Amino acid sequence: MSITKESELAGMKEVSEVVALTLKEMREYAQPGMSTKELDQYGARLLSEAGAKSAPHMTYGFPGYTCISINNEFCHGIPSDKTILKEGDLINIDVSAELDGYWSDNGGSFVLGNDVHQHQPLIEASKQILYKAIHAIKGGVRVSDVGFLMETEAKKRGYKVIRNLTGHGVGRSLHEAPSEIANYRDKYNLTRFKKNSVVAIETFISTSSTSAVTLKDGWTMVGNQGGYMAQHEHTIVVTDGEPIILTSMNAIWN
Ligand code: CO
Ligand code: CO
Repeated sequence: MSITKESELAGMKEVSEVVALTLKEMREYAQPGMSTKELDQYGARLLSEAGAKSAPHMTYGFPGYTCISINNEFCHGIPSDKTILKEGDLINIDVSAELDGYWSDNGGSFVLGNDVHQHQPLIEASKQILYKAIHAIKGGVRVSDVGFLMETEAKKRGYKVIRNLTGHGVGRSLHEAPSEIANYRDKYNLTRFKKNSVVAIETFISTSSTSAVTLKDGWTMVGNQGGYMAQHEHTIVVTDGEPIILTSMNAIWN
């Protein structure tokens, strides 16, 4: 969406704060021994207490309220009472929701407790790349140039990017134009970021895969070459200068 008046910015700030705090509190609530279903139910409660509705649940009929992906799962992991969190797990939580007709999206990967499997460098790379990408965005910048930056920064650190997962416009629904904000230079994408538009910028940084494939459950995505992936995502408003980071309260950069 494009922000045309104060009330729209206020609405976007409100829903963004809800998804950001839900993500942050879920990250802090996660413990070894807990099932991903329990963690999801905690997130669902936070969303509903704030009056917000889970976007994937409402829009796509996703069998959960937040996406929780563990280790080799890249994204869209289904919360389950059979998936028990363990020390050192690479966990990705993605929270998106609707409140009063406004939609916001954010996500982040982290290691649970001690980093026994050395996932932290991948996570740090993803965080840094999101930071660089977001700070390169202003009105008039080509979407593909930001993709090139992300791919270049990933390569520099010895990682790859997933080509079939992308950031997207957001605001009046979960996925809007521009529909594909890729992590690589898509030379066919001539779109430019527009001032006042709301977009969800997300990294998909991986150790060995370059695309994500859906498992038989119809949701969970893993790598075409296996390995691990880290994702970090903020919803922002594009301006003439520094973007407004609407989901900054998720504290994924801290
Ligand atoms: Co998301
Ligand atoms: Co998104």
